[in-house]
Parts: sequence; structure tokens; C-alpha cells
Amino acid sequence: NGKYTVTLIPGDGIGPEISQSIKDIYLAANVPVQWEEVSVSPVLKGGKTVIPDSAIQSVKKNTVALKGPLATPIGKGHVSLNLTLRRTFNLFANVRPCASIKGYKTPYDDVNTVLIRENTEGEYSGIEHEIVDGVVQSIKLITWDASERVARYAFDYAKTSGRKRVTAVHKANIMKMSDGMFLSACRQVANEFPDIAYDEDLLDRVCLQIVQNPSPYADRVMVMPNLYGDILSDMCAGLIGGLGLTPSGNIGRDASIFEAVHGSAPDIAGKGLANPTALLLSSLMMLRHMNLFDYAAKIENAALTTIAEGRAITGDLGGKASTKEYTDAIIQKLRKA
Ligand code: IPM
Ligand code: MN
Repeated sequence: NGKYTVTLIPGDGIGPEISQSIKDIYLAANVPVQWEEVSVSPVLKGGKTVIPDSAIQSVKKNTVALKGPLATPIGKGHVSLNLTLRRTFNLFANVRPCASIKGYKTPYDDVNTVLIRENTEGEYSGIEHEIVDGVVQSIKLITWDASERVARYAFDYAKTSGRKRVTAVHKANIMKMSDGMFLSACRQVANEFPDIAYDEDLLDRVCLQIVQNPSPYADRVMVMPNLYGDILSDMCAGLIGGLGLTPSGNIGRDASIFEAVHGSAPDIAGKGLANPTALLLSSLMMLRHMNLFDYAAKIENAALTTIAEGRAITGDLGGKASTKEYTDAIIQKLRKA
């Protein structure tokens, strides 16, 4: 039927509401995407909670998925299904663009950066144990191969997106060996890209500088180990209006999963208050990944002008609109376009 089949994982908390909004918008824009909806509620298998095989098979088959947030319980004995998905499909690069929305006022108006987060290891390897009572060891695992792989992805990304500089963000002053090796891998890859400038900056310094003046970061791609990318991406979201606005793509060789940077927001779940923009923008990264550029541009334009006009925006952005009212405002624009 000339349609691309994409796996849709609605997720927990606000996941189903914001997923519905994407489905409605895609229908109105005639996007040639057919959703294959799968649940990722964990199932018990051999005493362990795992992702249902049907979900795994669907992503494997379609190679592209849009995913709502999955709740990650805090504490021992819980495996994050978000991380399980990233690991299962070896989604090694987590791409997190963060750009000001023209017309939506924040204290900053020229944020336009892209974070690329190593997505398979670091502190996220989940190797922790109690050595003796009161002493816990947590392994931060860094490998040359994963560092080089994400560095090469970052340079390739800079090249194809026309960005002029790659900055490796690190704490090699303290993490001498692990971050030190991450930097060595970045330097080696940098040599293969003579047209793209390369530099290195300390994570804490980047945090300070970017909140004081984000402009110098606007022409570049920042690449970093897993945990730094997790933290810095939330911080950067704060510069442009919050987590309701920041998308991401988990990219692998055999599959890619697109998801918002935010979590499942259980406090507002089911109330029709959630902002679907981050998931919508993630889905547009997905469309571009599938070379459906025109559909992506059309929907992006409708969503961003709706936000800029400020009449039908959700509470997180200072408005009064429900998820549905905001979604309908976008759909109206698409119909007129
Ligand atoms: C993110 C999230 C996840 C992470 C959680 C939900 C496991 O915060 O995608 O940034 O820590 O990576
Ligand atoms: Mn996070």
C-alpha cells in the first residue's frame, strides 16, 4: 500500500496521550506511515522481567520505531526497559538536538546545539556491587570501540548537517584513563575530518558557559560519554523551554528508536495536559531518517508556528491548552497548508 511500517511503543504515564496526538497529526498530514503498535509492559520470564518478544521482533522487522516514555523504577532489582531496548538493538548514538523555537520567548533566543551521547556504556553499564557492608562499587565502563564509533557518528553528523565543529565534552582531568581514552578516540577520528574543527571542553565548564551564553555552541556538535549526555541534555532543554520540547534519536546499525528526552510524567498522566511536542519532534527526526523530508518539514512548520503564536500551547509552556487542543491547532494549520 506504499506505506512504511513503523513500530509504535506508546509507553507509560503520558505516553499513550502524546502518542495519540502524533497519530492524529500524521493522519491529517497524510504521512505514509502505518503504525505497528506494540506493548512493552514487562513480562516475567525465568524470574526476570523482560521486554515481550513481540515488541523486539517488531522493531527488528521494521528497523524504525517511535517510542513513548517507559517508567524506570528507582532502586535495586529494577532493570530499566529504556536501557534494555538501547542495549538489545545496540543503539550506540543518542542524538539530541536542542534549538530555540522562534517566537517562543525564553531568556535565551539563540540556542541551536546538538548533543551526541554515547548510548551503550559508561556508568550505564549497570555493573554495581557491594564490596563490603557500606561500600558499593559502580563500574564506569569505557571501550575504545564504542568511543570511536560514537565519535565517528558525531563527525559524520556534523558533516552532513553542515555544522563546523565537534566538541568532545569530558572530565579527563579526573577520569584520567576512561575519559582520557574517550578523548584519544575522538582525536583520532578528528584527523579523518580535516574540514571540521575539533576541540575539547570540560563538562562543568560547558554547563557554566552555555547558561551564560549559548551562542558559541550554536554551530557545533557536542559528543560525550553516556551519563554526561544524559545530564547535559536536560540542562540544555531548560534553555529552550523545558523537556516538553526536546527530541532524540537512538541510532544503531540495524535499528533506530526515536523518543522524547523526557520521562513518563506520572503526576500529569491521563489528564490531557501533556505536551506532545518532544515526541512529535522525535517522530520528525524519524521521518528524516526515513528520507521523508517534506512531510517532516510540513509538520514541523505547523507545530512551531502553533507554539510561536502562543494561543494553543500547553501548561508547561505557560499556556492553557490541553494536549488535544494543541494537537487540533496543529492539525488546523496542516489542513490550511
Ligand atoms: C533519558 C532518560 C533515561 C536515561 C532513563 C529514563 C533511563 O533519562 O533518556 O535521558 O537516563 O537515559
Ligand atoms: Mn535523561
